Amino acid sequence: MSIIAPSILSANFAALAEEIKDVERAGADWIHIDVMDGHFVPTLTFGPMIIQAVRPATKLVFDVHLMIEQPELHIPNYVAAGADRITVHAEACVHLHRVIHQIKEAGLPAGVALNPATPIHVLENVIDDIDMVLIMTVNPGFGGQKFIPQSLNKIRQLRELLTARGRGDMLIQVDGGINADTAPLVREAGSDVFVAGNAVFTERDRAAAIAALR
Ligand code: DX5
Ligand code: ZN
Repeated sequence: MSIIAPSILSANFAALAEEIKDVERAGADWIHIDVMDGHFVPTLTFGPMIIQAVRPATKLVFDVHLMIEQPELHIPNYVAAGADRITVHAEACVHLHRVIHQIKEAGLPAGVALNPATPIHVLENVIDDIDMVLIMTVNPGFGGQKFIPQSLNKIRQLRELLTARGRGDMLIQVDGGINADTAPLVREAGSDVFVAGNAVFTERDRAAAIAALR
């Protein structure tokens, strides 16, 4: 399975609803929404009000990637705004297990994201509780960065761990520097959900860009 999730971080914010409709027409599977708080990562993007404002633009899954500290304080607002799935960073959660269950109790699939320097073993005790792992293939905070090649080994290790733990159903998402050159590599390593910001939104022909990723 391959799920293509364009990241609206690289979209034209002045026409966000139109940009979302455009990538939907172009064949996107999910819309990836990068929430950054200016603390966990240096950049500040947007919060639930913007998400709610663009929610009517599409029926596609809103895949919300929270790059924020203390996500437990804000999860109810993202659920109310129309998130379909929520991913939190392991590095941002003192009580990761509790946060995962907070998302699931709200009825949403829960993802856990790992920065490039965070080893996969931090997931060992929550593997049975989550629906997706997001392997960051750049350091989060900005679009348009270069793919970190060591990520490939990490994805392979994670795939092995998931198989050994009977969680072959779990989605592995990759995010950062994914383009037509790196997508085949991360797919071969075992990932199924491909986030792409620049590779989609800087192209005039988004259908061709998404087709190239597939
Ligand atoms: C990085 C974000 C990504 C970003 C990817 O902090 O989480 O979703 O938009 O952008 P590209 O695909 O341009 O590397
Ligand atoms: Zn992201």
